[in-house]
This record gives sequence, C-alpha cells and structure tokens, in this order.
Amino acid sequence: MTIATPILFDCDPGHDDAIALVMAHRSPAIKLLGVTTTCGNAEVKKTTANALRILEYIGAGDVPVAQGCHRPLARSLVLGTADGPSGLEGSPYLPQATIKPVDQHAVDFLADKLRASPEPILVVATGPLSNIGLMILKHRDVLPKIKELIWMGGVFYRKSEIITPTEFNAFCDPEALKIVLDSGVPILMVGLDVTMQVLIEAPQYAELATIDTPLGKLVNDWLLFYEKLHRNSMGVGGAMHDPLALALAIDPTLVRTRPAHIGVDLTGTYAFGATVADFWSERGEKDNARIAHEVDADRFFKLMFDLLGD
Ligand code: BDR
Ligand code: CA
Repeated sequence: MTIATPILFDCDPGHDDAIALVMAHRSPAIKLLGVTTTCGNAEVKKTTANALRILEYIGAGDVPVAQGCHRPLARSLVLGTADGPSGLEGSPYLPQATIKPVDQHAVDFLADKLRASPEPILVVATGPLSNIGLMILKHRDVLPKIKELIWMGGVFYRKSEIITPTEFNAFCDPEALKIVLDSGVPILMVGLDVTMQVLIEAPQYAELATIDTPLGKLVNDWLLFYEKLHRNSMGVGGAMHDPLALALAIDPTLVRTRPAHIGVDLTGTYAFGATVADFWSERGEKDNARIAHEVDADRFFKLMFDLLGD
C-alpha cells in the first residue's frame, strides 16, 4: 500500500497549475492538505475561482482553498498573459464553483497546517512566492515544519519566456523570492532549465487523445489555449512547468539535482528578477537549494498521463 505524502500546494491557476492540481488530487502518493492561491497568471480572485472550479469539477471539493496575496510584497502587480484574461481560457464550459474558499488568509492557513502537523510537510509552490515569503516573515516558528519547498521558478541556462535570464514567477515577486532563499528552508528549484524539456508536442497530444473522458477533453482544450503563446513566441508547444514540480513530490527521481547557493537580482538594469547560482561557494555563502538540471521527460509524461487517464 502506498503511504501518501501530505503536501500543501501554493499556486496561481493558470493552465499548467491546473493540470498539477488534477495530478495532486489523483495521485495515491499524495495527500493534498490544502491549496493556497496567489496573484500571477491572473488576479488572485480569478486564480482562487479557478482553483475552486477545478477542485469541484474533479470531485475534490473537500480540499480547503485559502486565498492569498493580491499583489507582490514590494512591487506593483504583474500579470501573465499566457493563460488569457480569466487565467483559464479555453474551457468556457467549466462551471463556476459552488464551493467557497476558507475564511482565512493563505499565509495564516499555511502556518496553521504546518503547526498542526506532527511531521515536517512538503510545500509545492508554482506561482510567485508572495504567500510563502509573507508566511516566513509572519510565522517564523513554522519554518522547521517545512520538509522541503519544491519551487517552480527561476532559470539559469535556457532561453526564458520573459526577459533572458528571468523567469515569470521570479520576475513577479523577486523580493518574496529573496526572503524565501535567505530563510534556511530547504528548496528544490524546478526552473525553466528542466521544465522547458517537458513540452506538449504531437506525441503528447496523441497520448492525450486516447484519454476519452470529459477530463481528458478539458485538459486538451486547456493545452490548445495554453500553447498559443509558446508556439508564437518560441516556436514550441506548451511547457509542463508546474506539473513537473508537482510530479517531484510523487517521484523525486525524475530529475537530477545539484546543490548551489541561489541569489536573485533585485537591482539589475537588465537582469531584474534573474536567479544567479554559485555552484562552487565562490561567494562564501552556504548552499540554499538543490537545482534540478536534468529530467527524464519520458518517465514524467508517463506519470502525468497515467494520472490524467481513467
Ligand atoms: C511559470 O509561470 C507561469 O506562467 C506558469 O504557471 C509557471 O508557474 C513558468 O515560468
Ligand atoms: Ca504557475
């Protein structure tokens, strides 16, 4: 029997966050303790509505959802464009939810869940880190309860989807990212270096077509919308950024990692929000993260499609 790993999931759905949410609920290896939302792919009211819509649709209406930050900690709001105005375009038939978020801010919800747990818990974050950064400032006592933070964000080697070398989640709230990086919380960074290796192209669409269910059709429709920006700007299919981060809570062996100290540029004229890694302790700082730098894409897709299938 699989012993399910409890996780807390902070996200900004968003099509790829949405697929990750579905995977989290459907995996027997995961116990989804709660979902918190932030601004990013859309305003936080919309990302919250989307999280609720998805959870209710997949029969996970009992998973508590707590709405979080409506803007980054120190900067003006930045919103993504890849997912359209609602944050989840492409599925107008997906009903609005009847369930509601809990009456507690995400930051306090996360802290309460961590405090109440006898064991440290995995936290997966697939949006800008405003909620996690603010929780670190407000509830310092719960930090030892974070087993690891699996963070989708940052980039080192690859072409980025924002301004080389910055990644969207880092770019939206770099001050929050700095708080997280300096907090001592163990971090697994799942950046564009690996997520741009798991793209939805013809073979993946063919695989999805074999999932002849309403959920399979919904995911297909999400992906057709989601890939537009990627296809137009970079000539590739949609990248499974957030599903890969979530998948690592199920199977950490999907990636190879390297320890390093990561910093974030808060002042650069051109490289604002860029993540910078020191692999050789040249700056004399202790490693604060493991960086995923290689992924077994075939195994990832098998896991993803198994979870989306019947
Ligand atoms: C990240 O930015 C968002 O658009 C996606 O949901 C993902 O979390 C990729 O840079
Ligand atoms: Ca996201």
